[in-house]
Amino acid sequence: MPSLSFIGPGQFRGTYAPPGDKSISHRAILFGALSEGESVYENFLEAEDCLHTLDAMRQLGVQIHHEKGTGKVRISGKGLQKLSAPGSELYLGNSGTSMRLLLGVLAGQRFETVLTGDASLSVRPMRRVTDPLKQMGAQIKGKENGNFAPLTIRGGKLRGIDFDNKLSSAQVKSALLLAGMYAEGRTMVREAIPSRDHTERFLEAAGACFQKIGNHLIVEKTEMLLPIHARVAGDISSAAFFIVGAAIIPGSEVTVQNVGLNPTRTGLLEVLKRMGAKIETEVTQTVPEPMGTIRVWGAKLKGTGITHEEIPSLIDELPVLMVAMALAEGESLISGAAELRVKETDRIQSMVRNLKAIGASIEELPDGSLIRGVEGFQGATVESFGDHRTAMSMGVASLAAKGTITVTDTACIATSYPAFMEHFRQLSKP
Ligand code: S3P
Repeated sequence: MPSLSFIGPGQFRGTYAPPGDKSISHRAILFGALSEGESVYENFLEAEDCLHTLDAMRQLGVQIHHEKGTGKVRISGKGLQKLSAPGSELYLGNSGTSMRLLLGVLAGQRFETVLTGDASLSVRPMRRVTDPLKQMGAQIKGKENGNFAPLTIRGGKLRGIDFDNKLSSAQVKSALLLAGMYAEGRTMVREAIPSRDHTERFLEAAGACFQKIGNHLIVEKTEMLLPIHARVAGDISSAAFFIVGAAIIPGSEVTVQNVGLNPTRTGLLEVLKRMGAKIETEVTQTVPEPMGTIRVWGAKLKGTGITHEEIPSLIDELPVLMVAMALAEGESLISGAAELRVKETDRIQSMVRNLKAIGASIEELPDGSLIRGVEGFQGATVESFGDHRTAMSMGVASLAAKGTITVTDTACIATSYPAFMEHFRQLSKP
């Protein structure tokens, strides 16, 4: 289990392009597999999580050509109905997105599949997806009434349901919309606070029987999906480490190119601007996914509060945003973010413990944290808690540390961002 040492203080300067978006890459594989004809994607994220989705689809009988290191995948779609029973269980590692989205696809298949994952994935709640899928007609078994992997799913004849996505979870929404393509009648998902809409964009691009009316998402039985040729936008959640790293240190200047600017994902930029960060964005593409350039200049930031409505648009960026808040003048409050407790680790607990260890003033709340800004951090050894975003956030914190921050157990970074250290070194300037 390798440790990484980040020698502080430092700053980021330069131009870079982040790796492909994780959420879009998962969906690229799923939609490619279920369409008829060949889908071709460039800039597919070659990280463990997305490779688990790719391998799972191969085990379900889909031919996928992927030359490692190129970011290029060619998928020979089998159509919605032609997946085949896998020879063994599907192991999905650390990837919640793989498990929840695949459950939606498998709910429509007339064979049995067993889904497993690592220790972290095996304790992440699945009833949020398995309960509504059972209501649609899928048979699902797993510990505690289908709440925990290993999960055994047998799909079949589904019927549409009306579902209120109270958690604003894009994974839950996506699983139901995918299953809805197999169901008799209408499947409707309502969202008071919108979550990331990549699945909706894929449904539209692939010609599914789908419509969005206000905050109602409606999918009906779909006979076929069209293949897609696209370049996956850069991942704003990965770029977030360098955006925040630049924003917190005066004198920094980073340009992020070809990065996804989907408005359901850009909450971080709005919050940083409110904190006084100097950020400019330029949209260079709008369809199928908004994409462009983000420029960030470092400044002394001031504290802010994050509202419940903002959480889904920056849910994965909260750990690194906590680093920024720990350095911002005055108080910052994160509330309404209890979902952070059921991510790859409990990210409220992991970040509070780690930030305290480096000298931050932070208090743990049931659904967030209360932070009082300090001038800088001190060196310490902290833990990843097996969570990629906790590990990378603590690397960013080193920019403001007098001393070295050592992060233990950093193999988890490869689940979403294998090139993180390479990009960190590339942008780091003394
Ligand atoms: C994701 C949705 C979010 C996010 C995760 C990826 C997706 O999870 O945290 O990293 O690709 O749909 P929830 O749907 O659980 O909020």
